[in-house]
Amino acid sequence: MKHAPLYPLFAALLGLSALPAIASDATFEAVKISAGEQLFAAECRRCHATDAQHDSYGPPLENVIGRAAGSYPDYDYSVALEASGIVWTEPALRAWMADNQGFMPGTKMRHVGITDPTVQDFILAYLRSITTRDGKAIDN
Ligand code: HEC
Repeated sequence: MKHAPLYPLFAALLGLSALPAIASDATFEAVKISAGEQLFAAECRRCHATDAQHDSYGPPLENVIGRAAGSYPDYDYSVALEASGIVWTEPALRAWMADNQGFMPGTKMRHVGITDPTVQDFILAYLRSITTRDGKAIDN
C-alpha cells in the first residue's frame, strides 16, 4: 500500500471522513489533482493565471510542464529566467517551488519555499492536469 501514508493528508485537505480501502490509481490521481488545485489556489494563483483569458502577474502556467523556461509569448520575464535555457521538467519545478531564488538567482518571482514533497506532488498533479499537448495530457 504505497499510498497509505497519504490518507490523513488527503482526508484533511478534502474534508473527507473516510476513503475506500481500495482505490484505483485513477482515483488517487483525481484526489491529488483536486488537492493540488486547492494548494495552487492558496500558494500560486494570486500571481499566476492558468490561461491567457485571465490577468496574470506572473506567466500563465497552463502547459508549463515540458515548456522551455521564459517562453510564454509576450510575458516580460527577468533576464535570469529568459536566459536560463532550462525546461520545466517535474524535478526542475520541485527545485523551483522549494527555493526559486536559490535555484535561479535573479528571478523576479518572490520566494515561495514549498519544500514538502507531498505538497509538491499535489501541485505537480494539478499542473499536469492543465498541461496538454495535442489534446493529450503528458505523462512525465
Ligand atoms: C508573488 C507572486 C508569485 C507567486 C505567489 C508565485 N509566482 Fe511563480 N512567478 C512569478 C513571477 C513574477 C514570475 C516570473 C519570474 C521571472 O521572470 O524571473 C514567475 C515565474 C514562474 C514560473 C516560470 C514559468 C515560465 O514561463 O518560465 C513557474 C514555473 C512558476 N512561477 C511557478 C509557480 C508556482 C508553482 C507557484 C506556487 C507554488 C508560484 N509560481 C507562485 C510570481 C509568483
